[in-house]
Amino acid sequence: MKTPILLLDQPTAELDPKTSSELYRHLGRLNREKKVTTLVVMDKSGAVLKDAHRVLVMEAGMVKDFLPVGEYQKKYGCRKTNRRAKPIQVDERLDVIKLSGASHTYKGGITGCQPLNFSLKKGDFTAVIGQNGSGKSTMLKLIEGLVKPTSGSVELFGTPVTKKNVGELRRRIGFLFQNPDDQIFCSSVRDEISYVLKNKNLSAQQIEEKIQETLVLVGLKGLDEIHPQRLSRGQRQLLALGSVVINDPELIIADEPTSGLNSAQSQVVMEKLAHLSSQGVTILLVTHDLTEARDFANRIVVMHNHQLALEFKAEKIDNYLNELVRLELIEGGDF
Ligand SMILES: Nc1ncnc2c1ncn2[C@@H]1O[C@H](COP(=O)(O)OP(=O)(O)O)[C@@H](O)[C@H]1O
Ligand SMILES: [Mg+2]
Repeated sequence: MKTPILLLDQPTAELDPKTSSELYRHLGRLNREKKVTTLVVMDKSGAVLKDAHRVLVMEAGMVKDFLPVGEYQKKYGCRKTNRRAKPIQVDERLDVIKLSGASHTYKGGITGCQPLNFSLKKGDFTAVIGQNGSGKSTMLKLIEGLVKPTSGSVELFGTPVTKKNVGELRRRIGFLFQNPDDQIFCSSVRDEISYVLKNKNLSAQQIEEKIQETLVLVGLKGLDEIHPQRLSRGQRQLLALGSVVINDPELIIADEPTSGLNSAQSQVVMEKLAHLSSQGVTILLVTHDLTEARDFANRIVVMHNHQLALEFKAEKIDNYLNELVRLELIEGGDF
């Protein structure tokens, strides 16, 4: 029998760090014991490097380098992000989000999240991290009004969320999903970005000004007439962000917006969020990427076992490494 070959395209893009390491350990074992040749398209975390032998670097459709892992690391270095430039101005008096003992149990009695007490102040940039299944998306669904609290209550912009006002409150929020293709539906960048302006009372000139301003903001200037399918995934995520930003949201909720993007693309998306944050937009980001959380958010909140387990200022992350190891969010004392 011929030795099988395994081909995997960013297999861990949606997994938490612990589950990613487990997958790579299994692949490493298959490779050593069963001699399975394995080709993995790496994601930005670089977690595969512990188990890989060589790295192939591609650029503009061509092979740029093919090196042993050690040499790759020497030449390309470890992953770094550029820290945000401006400090965040938080208005402690105003809660944009307030969960008071809010829990959700799915049909069949499955716990989504235990009662959560959580608030997000105006202007804050908070990152939520936690293992797969820890309840992060359920918490976002409670905030978005997509599921009802089984106990407790949810307030947005100081107003208790009800069936009647949920639509109106949601209009003040911009949502950014993991996969931009769940969000994009128009056949040109221009139509996509300006879609939400349709029902507003704006003149053609005002609409054009807003489109141009937003295209510059998300770095897609000059691409107005292009079909979104012709953009890279990173550019499509920026387009999704543009279509959110043009509506001047007071709060942006982003659920893993950089998973599936490479480091350079992630950096651009995060810089755009940081820029919006410096303009006073409140941001709630769910991410598996601790480097991103540390470098761009103001506060980090950890979910574990359907509960909020830990909360700290992003700049103090070094004081919490042992806790993060205990909660199995990092393996050693580093990430
Ligand atoms: N639609 C659903 N129906 C039933 N159970 C669900 C549903 N969505 C999530 N869950 C369960 O709720 C728990 C929390 O999931 P989720 O909030 O998606 O976690 P995370 O986003 O942190 O991965 C998990 O045990 C998950 O299986
Ligand atoms: Mg989730």
